[in-house]
Amino acid sequence: MQVHRLSDYKDCEAALRNTGLRQALYDAGEVITGGTLLVLHSEEHIRRREIEIRVFRRNFFKYYEKEVFPATLAQTIAPYLSAGGGDLIELGYRLTVNLTADFAGVDRPEKTAEESEQLIRLVKKMSEGATMVHSTRDKDELNQEVREALSEFDRDFLQASIARRQTLIDAVECGDASEDTLPRDVLTVILRAQDELQFDDAQRLREIGFYMQAGSHSTANSVVHALDEILAWAGENPARWERLEDPVFIQHCVHESLRLHPASPEAWRKTMCPMQVSGAGELPEGDRIELDLFKANRSEEIFGSDAGSFNPDRDVPTGVMRSGLAFGIGVHTCLGRELDGGLLAKPGTDPEKAQFGIVPLIVIKLLELGASKVPGDPPAPDTKTKRPNWGRYPIQFAKEQA
Ligand code: HEM
Repeated sequence: MQVHRLSDYKDCEAALRNTGLRQALYDAGEVITGGTLLVLHSEEHIRRREIEIRVFRRNFFKYYEKEVFPATLAQTIAPYLSAGGGDLIELGYRLTVNLTADFAGVDRPEKTAEESEQLIRLVKKMSEGATMVHSTRDKDELNQEVREALSEFDRDFLQASIARRQTLIDAVECGDASEDTLPRDVLTVILRAQDELQFDDAQRLREIGFYMQAGSHSTANSVVHALDEILAWAGENPARWERLEDPVFIQHCVHESLRLHPASPEAWRKTMCPMQVSGAGELPEGDRIELDLFKANRSEEIFGSDAGSFNPDRDVPTGVMRSGLAFGIGVHTCLGRELDGGLLAKPGTDPEKAQFGIVPLIVIKLLELGASKVPGDPPAPDTKTKRPNWGRYPIQFAKEQA
């Protein structure tokens, strides 16, 4: 097997759209990703995706942004406001783990800080497992820890969440309750589609565990990168701070930051048969193609001569997303893209009508509260992974409420 590394934007985009290539980045993390949507191929992938995407029916985004999110945000941020600040990575995880749990369909019956902490610990471990390929840790040790985290998650969270949903589904199916009584989450969708999916317990556990980590980890990291870029860009410039009073402009800033810091800096694919791959040539079956999304997203040909720097006002060619390939493209395009990134609003859009996305909404709130770095306590990178993430990011708030 040969490895081919591509970093040209158009080659990477073509490879992501190439249905003859299969997912290969998560093979090392199969303890959690095995058989999940992310690693399926072809017909099996299409069928699973069609089922799971049902969660987005009936005004889902409006419901999520206007009803679910504001309460979670206010509740989670309150203790940090009282304390005048805290670690943004920790705050990001607390926020996103609760939101992702709502989306995945994982109940937190106790609603205590300890329960959230337990869930965060488990999700961080699952995330470490999914991105095992980039881990600097001993793989056997990590595999064992992920197995333990999954069984604790199953025992303390998933089993009760399944039981509660199954009772509600049974009531709807016998005509004793209406569809509106069902939670709007992936677990409910999966349970209702059991005849189509034929999941066993272990597969269902991995699928929900995968959703928990896919949503939390990337959202939390993207929030920190975006705030960091925005603070550096605005600096001491009052005119720039004035522009940051516009939430639509902040959404553009977040997408520019997503471009520079894609949550997954690489995508890997494998050839399923002998084939022509743009940028790599004629390849035999079984070769690996590593797509350097970090570099592709900084392509000067596509994004201009200042592609490597943060410029929320940049012109982006038609057909190219402002966030580049950060959410992937093609059949495996991120299922959470619209949830997290919203729909990019045109400058001047009425904020009431915009669908901002969870990452922009968190950053909008942080800026409203006057979030800044703490003098004398600088952020530090995460040393447990080769991925360019922050390990700690202390912030302080200038205001006690927005
Ligand atoms: C800023 C946040 C996020 C980023 C940058 C991101 C990025 C990505 C990328 C690059 C992929 C494609 C991987 C590939 O092609 O190899 C992906 C897939 C996926 N993402 Fe996200 N993601 C984010 C948030 C979320 C959230 C919040 C959810 C869930 C609610 C989610 C669920 C998924 C799922 C289910 C897939 C697999 C789709 C498939 O294989 O068909 N993501 N994500």
